[in-house]
Amino acid sequence: MKLTERFQLGFQVLENRMVMAPMTRSRALNNIPNDLMAVYYRQRNGAGLIITEGTAPSPNALGYPRIPGIFNKEQTNGWKRITDEVHKSRCKIFVQLMHTGRVAHPDNMPEGARVLAPSSVPLSGTMYTDENGEQPYPTATPMTMNDIEHTIREYRVASANAMIAGFDGVEIHGANGYLVDQFLNPCTNKRDDSYGGSTENRCRFALEVAKAIGEEIGFDKLGIRLSPYGVFNDMESFEDIENTYVYLAEELGSLGLCYIHIVDHSSMGAPEVPWRIKSLIRNAFGRPVIASGGFDKEKAERFLEEEKAELISFARPFLANPDLVYRFKEGIALNEPDPETFYTPGKKGYTDYPFADD
Ligand SMILES: Cc1cc2nc3c(=O)[nH]c(=O)nc-3n(C[C@H](O)[C@H](O)[C@H](O)COP(=O)(O)O)c2cc1C
Repeated sequence: MKLTERFQLGFQVLENRMVMAPMTRSRALNNIPNDLMAVYYRQRNGAGLIITEGTAPSPNALGYPRIPGIFNKEQTNGWKRITDEVHKSRCKIFVQLMHTGRVAHPDNMPEGARVLAPSSVPLSGTMYTDENGEQPYPTATPMTMNDIEHTIREYRVASANAMIAGFDGVEIHGANGYLVDQFLNPCTNKRDDSYGGSTENRCRFALEVAKAIGEEIGFDKLGIRLSPYGVFNDMESFEDIENTYVYLAEELGSLGLCYIHIVDHSSMGAPEVPWRIKSLIRNAFGRPVIASGGFDKEKAERFLEEEKAELISFARPFLANPDLVYRFKEGIALNEPDPETFYTPGKKGYTDYPFADD
């Protein structure tokens, strides 16, 4: 089985080609990683690589309730306990840096934090807050040049913290309508300065973030997640989409990032992501690709055999099956995930999914 073969990612060896995809689980009370999270991640350390839930590099990035941060000492120390647990096997673990940008509500954020975005394009619908239930999204404040510079510095500091916390690398969340994606897409980026308008300008923020992090920790320890044609958080397709992703992938390839992780949410009811854009990104980048979305063992094996990706990530299958790798190896049936407990605090639906050997 190709899925269980080792893989050289940058300078690191992954024990197998199965990646646990990033999943927000909202168990980080006060935004601090805790011992319950350490149990959850340790249970899943049969993966070749774990990518953590979206983690805030800034107080301004704490858009959702109970998501962890990595911008202060307490958070960094919390993560250190988690990476120590995960490293009890040969599993590697990257932290996903997620800046929520306009997808945020002040009720979820610490005092003084700001809802920032490239432009003040409102988001439809509501966001859940622990304090006041569902609330309409506020309209974000457009970022000044100073805000942009400051935010890039926050990514850099968060990445330095990630190294202190014992992470093997960092994944930039450049997907799903969060801040980096808000810059890439003209439906959310209406700027007329050097960060908006042309392909190069819209990609500038993503590339500057990548450069800052890579210079801090090494480009071989840095990956990025992208979601071309994604519609989550009100995102839309746009005319220049192929050019944008080809240019971005070429530039990320020249910087020497260790992977691009391509999102496809068609298994969750989103429109199909055309194979063409995935293959354009893969060719332009010229380095390892992680394919994600709707994979089971057979589809994943086929993808690897056909050389459509080097690594495959699994989200819901890992959520519900801590011993997913063992189950795949032995051909054991999988537990079903329970969406009711995806984001609820506590152990239920988090650390109590049964192992096959229980
Ligand atoms: C509970 C849950 C939380 C998620 N949180 C994140 C996240 O923090 N960052 C991210 O990039 N994707 C997130 N995703 C998307 C998954 O990484 C993945 O792309 C999606 O679930 C499709 O993969 P699957 O079919 O293997 O589940 C989340 C998905 C789920 C189910």
